[in-house]
Amino acid sequence: MSEIKQRASFGTRMGAIAASVGSAVGLGNIWRFPYQAGENGGGAYILVYLLCVVLLGIPVIMSEFVIGRSTHKNMKGALRQLSPKSKVHHFAYFCVIGSIVICSFYSVVCGWVIEYLYQAATGTLAGHTPAEYSQVFKDFVGSPVRGVTWTVLFLVINFAVMLLGVRRGVEGVSRVMMPLLFVILIVFCVNSLMLPGSHKGLEFLFSPDFAALGWDGVVDAMGQAFMSLSLGIAALVTYSSYFSDDSPLMKDAVTIASLDTLVALLAGVVIFPAVFSFGFEPAAGPELVFEVLPSVFYQMTGGYWWAILFFVLLFFASLTSTISLSEIPITFLTEEFKMSRAFATLLCAVVVIVLAALCALSFNVLSGATVAGMNIFSLFDYVGSNVFMLLGGLFTAIYVGWFLHKQVIMDQLAVRGRTSSFDYNYVVQCLRFFAPVAILIILYYYVTA
Ligand code: TRP
Repeated sequence: MSEIKQRASFGTRMGAIAASVGSAVGLGNIWRFPYQAGENGGGAYILVYLLCVVLLGIPVIMSEFVIGRSTHKNMKGALRQLSPKSKVHHFAYFCVIGSIVICSFYSVVCGWVIEYLYQAATGTLAGHTPAEYSQVFKDFVGSPVRGVTWTVLFLVINFAVMLLGVRRGVEGVSRVMMPLLFVILIVFCVNSLMLPGSHKGLEFLFSPDFAALGWDGVVDAMGQAFMSLSLGIAALVTYSSYFSDDSPLMKDAVTIASLDTLVALLAGVVIFPAVFSFGFEPAAGPELVFEVLPSVFYQMTGGYWWAILFFVLLFFASLTSTISLSEIPITFLTEEFKMSRAFATLLCAVVVIVLAALCALSFNVLSGATVAGMNIFSLFDYVGSNVFMLLGGLFTAIYVGWFLHKQVIMDQLAVRGRTSSFDYNYVVQCLRFFAPVAILIILYYYVTA
């Protein structure tokens, strides 16, 4: 007797949204957005960023959702079903490789997060001077054993969640971690706003200065919207293939983009008032999170708990992001190569662990291995963000905007059988014109920079 195996799906609409917001909210929101905003004219940057989310972000989210939900397949199966006579389905390999590249370097930073969480919890992180915090971080990344161990530990947690499957693993974890992440953020916001001199941080973040924005700032905002919303490598194609057919896609896309933007703004409200209130200089990236912020937390009353809470927040944000990155190759392997989920998970785990270990080692024993002046970690970061995400997004926008049958898009946009022509025109016109032009501008800028 042949038995048709049911494909997995998310259990509830809330769960589907939690997983997608989990994918979107990551390190990008917490260490890059606030700083970019502050550096590029505050409110002016935020205004441009919001425009990018509306004109670029939401339409590209929709293009991925249309591909995924209309077929309920992985990227390759989906493209094969939508364009059976063409070879576009090979593009899926590009997305799968992209997801592995991004997951590999991203996990190294997640490894740093859990080592800092461990140190904060055991009390060893406390009690240093600001200069010592820089040294603590340099010592850590300079140690091959520590760097690799924590990265591998993080990936073991990540792939253990993946083993639990779409509903219990991906959705289950997101449904618990995302609400908690919002609670922690709000507690932090209240605390930051009550600090003396918090207005200086808010001015840095919000006061609009169009002269400081410039073209660099505009291009940064476009790239940031792309990274933050997890676009380009079929993460949202994969997730939406697990959505139910009756959820209102457009509404869900707007909700996801809004919550992601809200987290980015709240992260700024948490970080800068505190940084300025204690007389520190704002910074971006690893330096902000691993050098400046520990100094700030330990000057607050209850610093022990603030530090733990902050690294828990980062852990939730990063784990739900790597989960979405891992789901891309796992769904691909189970459907295209008929592997069991367990075997596909194990295979991905081995590949990502090896590549991530190389990235972790590029700060110490492999620091001499460089391509065009970049170590392995920076190379993966550069290629992942600038090649895979951007070219992937360009492909999806053009494919859905210009080539996909109109009826498929109409059906996916429909709510109770009716499609608003405003929604259709908004999505399709942005995909046809604005998104490709914007992506080409970013690419040109990065290539010539
Ligand atoms: N959006 C995440 C962040 O802001 C990064 C991320 C997770 C991502 N999954 C992705 C980026 C898929 C591109 C594609 O940190």
